[in-house]
Amino acid sequence: MNLTPDLRDIETPALLIDLDIFEANLERMAQFFRVRPAKLRPHIKTHKTPLIAHKQLAAGAIGITCAKLGEAEVMAHAGLHGILLANQVVGESKIRRLAQLARQTDLIVAADDPGNIREIGRAMTAAGAQLGMILEIDVGMKRCGVTPDTRCVELARLVTRTPGLTFRGIMGYEGHIVSKLPHEFRIEECRKANARLVRARRLIEKAGIPVEIVSAGGTGTYDVTGDNPGITEVQAGSYVFMDHVYHRVRPEFGIALSVLSTIISRPTRRRGVIDGGLKTFSRGFDLPRAKDCPGLNLWYISEEHGKIRLSGKACDLSVGDKVEFYAGHCCEAVNLHDRLYALRGGRLEAVWTIAARGKLA
Ligand SMILES: Cc1ncc(COP(=O)(O)O)c(C=O)c1O
Repeated sequence: MNLTPDLRDIETPALLIDLDIFEANLERMAQFFRVRPAKLRPHIKTHKTPLIAHKQLAAGAIGITCAKLGEAEVMAHAGLHGILLANQVVGESKIRRLAQLARQTDLIVAADDPGNIREIGRAMTAAGAQLGMILEIDVGMKRCGVTPDTRCVELARLVTRTPGLTFRGIMGYEGHIVSKLPHEFRIEECRKANARLVRARRLIEKAGIPVEIVSAGGTGTYDVTGDNPGITEVQAGSYVFMDHVYHRVRPEFGIALSVLSTIISRPTRRRGVIDGGLKTFSRGFDLPRAKDCPGLNLWYISEEHGKIRLSGKACDLSVGDKVEFYAGHCCEAVNLHDRLYALRGGRLEAVWTIAARGKLA
């Protein structure tokens, strides 16, 4: 492998970002939304890095989407605004934290349960806070969310009548289809999921309640969802980094994230071991895949080791050589690391702290 001196100096395993690819991804998605009524509120669960969230805002995003309260706290602390917490916040102490955060920043949270809505409302009133709320609609994923029928109208009414809460709209993530192939099937299923969300919007509006936000979409569906006139914003996240699995679905976004690993053992001519495993890459949707290294096949990972099979020129690799791998799921891999090494043309330009990694609560 012909590694630049900068790459040779980085201790492994380490997360690398190819800045040229990353910036192209950022710009491609931003450009799509610049010329459309729907806007981008990117999901930061992919990078968990305030600096990258700031870059997304600078490129035109209207705010950020978070999965966890802890992520939202980190992002707010780093000066990010327009935070949509696209998940349920349940439990007394977390709701207290939510109220504290709502006092500090313009926050919107998702909900789908009347008891939870009332409890959050009481906590906001007690804290003297006002919190934006959107209802989560199940658009076919069968995860969280209420059905787009009278139930969503009743919940919308409840939110409008609950002191401390401001009803802002609805969300419905079509996660069951974002990575489906072929493209025609994904497009068709996405339209069906979007239609369920827009039906919920119409029902709520018919009841006299204005719906300002209709949020949906991921990297696999940003174009179909972002073109739907009933949807106001998209929550795509993976597009900034990508991985070799998602890249098959959305080849227009390059794979900017890789994991640099070192060969630590060469037991036989055709076998080797790298210093990365489950705690480096995560289980992912598939095994990591070597970048620019024909003949190297990573076929098994345990906690801290990866077993590789070698053929052809790859048999010349020795202990101490470094190899880059594409992750099998970028979002999971990022959550396992403290920092990102940002490189351009193999030269190290910056080291970014993944400040919200591990913020699971
Ligand atoms: C609620 C929600 N919104 C949006 C996304 C979009 O993510 P991606 O761009 O990775 O498809 C996800 C992915 O997990 C999600 O859970």
